[in-house]
Amino acid sequence: MTTPQTPPKPPADLPASTLTIARPDDWHLHVRDGAAMAAVLPYTARQFSRAIIMPNLRPPVTSAAQAMAYRDRIVAAVPAGVDFTPLMTLYLTDKLAPDEIQRAAAAGVVAAKLYPAGATTNSDAGVTDVRNIYPALEAMQRAGLKLLVHGEVTDPAVDIFDREAVFIERVMQPLRADFPELKVVFEHITTREAAQYVASAGAHTAATITAHHLLYNRNALFIGGMRPHYYCLPVLKRELHRQALLAAVASGSDRFFLGTDSAPHAAQLKEASVCGAGCFTALSALELYAEAFEAAGALDKFEAFASHHGADFYGLPRNSGTVTLDKQPYTLPDSVAMGEAPLKPLRGGETLAWRQRAAADLASAPGAQAGRKPSIDR
Ligand code: DOR
Ligand code: ZN
Repeated sequence: MTTPQTPPKPPADLPASTLTIARPDDWHLHVRDGAAMAAVLPYTARQFSRAIIMPNLRPPVTSAAQAMAYRDRIVAAVPAGVDFTPLMTLYLTDKLAPDEIQRAAAAGVVAAKLYPAGATTNSDAGVTDVRNIYPALEAMQRAGLKLLVHGEVTDPAVDIFDREAVFIERVMQPLRADFPELKVVFEHITTREAAQYVASAGAHTAATITAHHLLYNRNALFIGGMRPHYYCLPVLKRELHRQALLAAVASGSDRFFLGTDSAPHAAQLKEASVCGAGCFTALSALELYAEAFEAAGALDKFEAFASHHGADFYGLPRNSGTVTLDKQPYTLPDSVAMGEAPLKPLRGGETLAWRQRAAADLASAPGAQAGRKPSIDR
């Protein structure tokens, strides 16, 4: 006679083999425009339900009408049958009128971006002194528009590796004190100072963190020679800062959420004597984040970081549906087409540990039904 056997449970310390989470959002994304946008947008739409679309086009998106026209062009580029919503932003300039903020809020724009003039790609038209945008910030605070901040000073006397920490003292703290009700996202934080600041700044301050700042320190820029595809702004920092970012996400704090800052630049403009700042990660963003969370022993915090904290901070509903990642090594293409130009993804030609399951397979994913709990199978 045989007794029915229940299969032994695998021990919890076995490596995870699949990961199913609620559909995530990307709270910081560059998709450019025209043929470039048509080429890169499908990668994001495949992984994310919504994305905050950065306004640093040439010319920048400085009016409600421009934001709406840009939104329409993006929506037209979403592949058929894919559910993706762009969330639009305005680009703050010294002269942006408070009325325009009102119009933008009424049109559905959710945020405005503060680029210190000269801080990064297409920031020439940005803000020369934060006091110049106080009338706009007052209008934003009234209208409930979020302020998204590229947090680096542009003072050439400040070392490039210190520009984020100095920004906290010189700009962020005074701004926070003057606009206590404004919701502020400190974008793509890269330092221990910024992680500590955000963790202690109160419920109206949050931060996005990129996959590349979780995975790499500044050594990555120089392994075997200069590595232009690892160059972004704010630039990668020392290992102690990367560890602080990992600790921030592993803490499970709802002040930290996913923002890829995926920033496509044609390969010939990266591999040039002057290399544009930006890492293109949209091709495998979730896979890169999963790798970072797994290495930090924090996969159980991944779903909230990717799919809950950002929506909650923005006051938007969480997404329904799920995405599943399998532990299934696959090799990223070395380059993809961006219109006429080749575009090199971060880690192109290398093998990644995780792979997003194709949508057609999702019905069979563990927990794919409504009302599911996040699942990590081992
Ligand atoms: O690395 C970056 N690239 N940082 C930014 O702030 C802008 C972005 C871009 O637009 O290329
Ligand atoms: Zn950016």
